[in-house]
Amino acid sequence: MVKKRASIFISGKGSNLKNLIKKSREYNFPISINLVVCNNPNSEGILHAKKNSIPLLIIDTKKRNFENKILLYLKKYKISLICLAGYMKILSKKFLNNYKKIIINIHPSLLPKFKGLNTFSRILENKEIKTGCTVHYVSEKLDDGNIISQKYFYINKNDNEIIIKRKTQIQEYLAFPEAIIKIYRYN
Ligand code: GRF
Repeated sequence: MVKKRASIFISGKGSNLKNLIKKSREYNFPISINLVVCNNPNSEGILHAKKNSIPLLIIDTKKRNFENKILLYLKKYKISLICLAGYMKILSKKFLNNYKKIIINIHPSLLPKFKGLNTFSRILENKEIKTGCTVHYVSEKLDDGNIISQKYFYINKNDNEIIIKRKTQIQEYLAFPEAIIKIYRYN
C-alpha cells in the first residue's frame, strides 16, 4: 500500500499529532506524516515531531507571506493531506485556493453546534446532554465544511470543563484516524 503523504498543523500540546504519528506506523493506515507545521515556537507538540524525526516548519505568522512559505514546504514534501490538529490560525482564502488538495480539521464539539473558541464553557452553560468532537473538511467559513466523522459521549452532572475536555480528547483520538481512513477508503 502506497501511503498518502500528510502534514499535521499544530499550535499547542500536539496530543492529536502524537496519536496520528502512532497510527501512521500501522501498515494499513492510509497516511504517513511527512511534515509538521507549527506557528508557536513554545508548542509542546514540536517535541513529537523532533522525537520522531519528522520534518518541522516553525512559522512566524507575523511575517508577511508566511503562508507562501508553508505552500513551498507542502510542495517540497509532496503533501496531499493537511490535518489541522489544534492549529490556532485561520487559513486565508488565498491559501485555500492555492492548496488544491485535501484539508481537514478537528473541532471539540458536535458541529454545527458550538463553532469557534471556548467550546467547553459554552457547552456547560447551555446544559447540553451530550457532546463530542467533529472532523470536517475545511472550507472558507470557520468550523463549517462537510462532516467526515463525529464521536460523542454523555455529559455527567458533575463534569466540569477539565473533565469534558479530557473526555472529548479521548474521542478525538478515535475520530481523527477514522476520518482519515474514510477519506481514502475508495481511493
Ligand atoms: C483539540 O481539542 C482540537 O479539537 C482543537 O484543539 C485541540 C488540540 O489538542 N482544535 P492537541 O494539541 O492535539 O492536544
